Amino acid sequence: MGPLSAPPCTQHITWKGLLFTASLLNFWNLPISAQVTIEAQPPKVSEGKDVLLLVHNLPQNLAGYIWYKGQLMDLYHYITSYVVDGQINIYGPAYSGRETVYSNASLLIQNVTQEDAGSYTLHIIKRGDRTRGVTGHFTFNLYLETPKPYISSSNLNPREAMETVILTCNPETPNASYQWWMNGQSLPMTHRMQLSKTNRTLFLFGVTKYTAGPYECEIRNPVNASRSDPFTLNLLSENYAYIWWLNCQSLPVSPRVKRPIENRILILPSVTRNETGPYQCEIRDRYGGIRSDSVTLNVLYGPDLPRIFPSVTSYYSGENLDLSCFADSNPPAQYSWTINGKFQLSGQKLFIPQITPKHNGLYACSARNSATGEESFTSLTIRVIGKWIPASLAIGF
Ligand SMILES: *[C@@H]1O[C@H](CO)[C@@H](O)[C@H](O)[C@H]1NC(C)=O
Ligand SMILES: *[C@@H]1O[C@H](CO)[C@@H](O)[C@H](O)[C@H]1NC(C)=O
Ligand SMILES: *[C@@H]1O[C@H](CO)[C@@H](O)[C@H](O)[C@H]1NC(C)=O
Ligand SMILES: *[C@@H]1O[C@H](CO)[C@@H](O)[C@H](O)[C@H]1NC(C)=O
Ligand SMILES: *[C@@H]1O[C@H](CO)[C@@H](O)[C@H](O)[C@H]1NC(C)=O
Ligand SMILES: *[C@@H]1O[C@H](CO)[C@@H](O)[C@H](O)[C@H]1NC(C)=O
Repeated sequence: MGPLSAPPCTQHITWKGLLFTASLLNFWNLPISAQVTIEAQPPKVSEGKDVLLLVHNLPQNLAGYIWYKGQLMDLYHYITSYVVDGQINIYGPAYSGRETVYSNASLLIQNVTQEDAGSYTLHIIKRGDRTRGVTGHFTFNLYLETPKPYISSSNLNPREAMETVILTCNPETPNASYQWWMNGQSLPMTHRMQLSKTNRTLFLFGVTKYTAGPYECEIRNPVNASRSDPFTLNLLSENYAYIWWLNCQSLPVSPRVKRPIENRILILPSVTRNETGPYQCEIRDRYGGIRSDSVTLNVLYGPDLPRIFPSVTSYYSGENLDLSCFADSNPPAQYSWTINGKFQLSGQKLFIPQITPKHNGLYACSARNSATGEESFTSLTIRVIGKWIPASLAIGF
């Protein structure tokens, strides 16, 4: 290397740095044996963060340093330099306002952008006379990485098929695009999934065990991409038991009754009167359970065939006839009586004092359910015989 191989920029420097740079040319010389190393701190840089290019094993007795962007040491790529004498900083066209060179030659770059990725050249100039002065240059590549993303969830333990879960890919990264995977595949976009405009947020409407994950997200920018660890939602039904209660008794298992989604839904096909009553559900885990308020199922039915009490058909003259009618029905039936087909009265009871043979006949009870619109009858033929003799008298003395 001779003076003629000096960086072309030095011929064009017109500002304050001119004197310094020009004087360096006088010492233009042998390369410094290169133990100098440059290290990025932190080693992994992502957009928007700061990075320090640490220079190690710097030789003694230096006159100054110049940092260039790229590998060409020309004016156009001149970022900044430091002149040891006078501790002066000089800035060049490649200076963005975010670089600081320290007295130990290390270069701090703040608020890193994608344009900052790439190579840097450090040019160091040692003091000396024409024969002993040395310079050297060292390049370093700055890689920008997207940060390793992680997934956060609005709800870590959603109830299966019940709740909306919002997954977010973090951190929010400038100029990045986001992509999601489920079970290692691109998302099966259904009406139960929706992405935000930026794709950073994923809405899951009603997670089932088929859509619980694992999910992964990726942050990608033009220089790098990085993917999160897998994230799986923990559906509540895997840890909880669901129990149904009717009239405070646990509902027996029956092949007729369906209980889909781990017992969380109860289906009573062709509901029966037995299934009338207050229902409660209970969520139980290994520590205990909690029961819901009750919901009463009111099954309308009937009336069944009525029965008349007493069922006695023979009476003595002078006895009281006291009949009741009952038919199972919900809501309770409305009753009416006829004797020999003629309407007698409304009500459940029929009372006739001191009957005589003229009360012989067909006594019919009708039960009607106004809610179901059903009606049913039953009848009893009553015969009144002779004269009533008290038993004690009949035995006689
Ligand atoms: C870096 O960014 C922060 C926040 O955007 C800003 O306050 C700061 O001035 C920036 N620093 C430089 C050196 O540009
Ligand atoms: C150089 O100086 C900077 C700022 O004072 C410091 O952070 C860095 O550790 C120094 N570098 C070395 C190699 O000591
Ligand atoms: C995003 O990229 C554009 C073009 O590369 C750049 O001008 C802008 O500063 C970047 N935004 C951020 C926040 O880095
Ligand atoms: C969001 O993702 C879809 C499909 O994965 C893609 O077509 C679209 O360009 C993405 N949008 C943004 C803003 O990255
Ligand atoms: C992102 O950067 C890291 C470190 O430089 C590299 O190992 C990785 O391959 C890069 N990924 C992509 C997709 O460019
Ligand atoms: C109602 O329950 C009783 C006993 O609990 C049972 O014998 C009867 O078969 C049930 N009836 C119907 C219609 O399910």
